[in-house]
Amino acid sequence: MKTVLITGANKGIGWGTAKHLGLSGWKIIIGARHQGRAETAINELKSLGIDVLGRVHIELTDLTSLEQAAKEVNEKYPSLSMLVNNAGIPGDMSVDGQHTELSDIKKTVDVNFIGTFYLTRLLIPLLEKNSGRIVNVTVPSEISPYWHPLAYVASKAAQNAMMGVLAMEFQQNNTPIEIFSVHPGPTTTDLNGNMSLPGFHDIETVGSKMAELINDNKNHQGEFIELYPIVKED
Ligand SMILES: NC(=O)c1ccc[n+]([C@@H]2O[C@H](COP(=O)([O-])OP(=O)(O)OC[C@H]3O[C@@H](n4cnc5c(N)ncnc54)[C@H](OP(=O)(O)O)[C@@H]3O)[C@@H](O)[C@H]2O)c1
Repeated sequence: MKTVLITGANKGIGWGTAKHLGLSGWKIIIGARHQGRAETAINELKSLGIDVLGRVHIELTDLTSLEQAAKEVNEKYPSLSMLVNNAGIPGDMSVDGQHTELSDIKKTVDVNFIGTFYLTRLLIPLLEKNSGRIVNVTVPSEISPYWHPLAYVASKAAQNAMMGVLAMEFQQNNTPIEIFSVHPGPTTTDLNGNMSLPGFHDIETVGSKMAELINDNKNHQGEFIELYPIVKED
């Protein structure tokens, strides 16, 4: 059973991951909130011969809609064997930590942690039944001297804590779910205004590496895996 739901799969790293997992034989469920962009993504994936099962509406700030989404997944895709928590927002990266607006922190945490955790929680029973996996797309919790936007890093640190706690509990309770996190490294996407500095990679490269990692047949329970670490380029 290789059926994956990828949130934020209509573009960026989510789309690259959907493409390369699809090319390697996974059945894809696109998690997206924007119907037009989702349809474009689905058509492109299908034109590559990828088995796209459908789209599930995922709006991470709307907890009721996540309950509806989980219900739909259980009914329509009972073979779900992997959730990729990819959807995320950067928060305001233009301000330094002490000037970060509370509203920005709340909004970023709502998407990157609260919504992501709630969707994960709602899908755990189905993933447990299918001995599935949960993959989180994230950044390191450690504060990098080169780059440290407060709202974003704080929200991702919370998501990383979720991964660590769940991994430990799954192990302690013999719950047949594997959870781990992946830091893709600097990637040229809308999230950073399509920045393309030295050290950045494109979504093809990152999507392909993500699929390679997911398909490596190794157990990554509780791991934080860096595809491309953040380094200072001279
Ligand atoms: N790009 C990087 O350098 C980088 C580095 C490390 C980690 N990451 C992580 O990689 C993940 C993907 O980012 P990306 O760079 O590919 O960015 P992106 O191109 O902006 O894509 C973000 C995706 O998340 C979705 N999304 C945003 N807010 C949402 C919400 N409230 N509910 C549901 N979906 C929502 C977007 O959907 P819409 O199209 O509807 O807006 C889009 O599909 C993020 O978690 C990010 O933190 C990125």
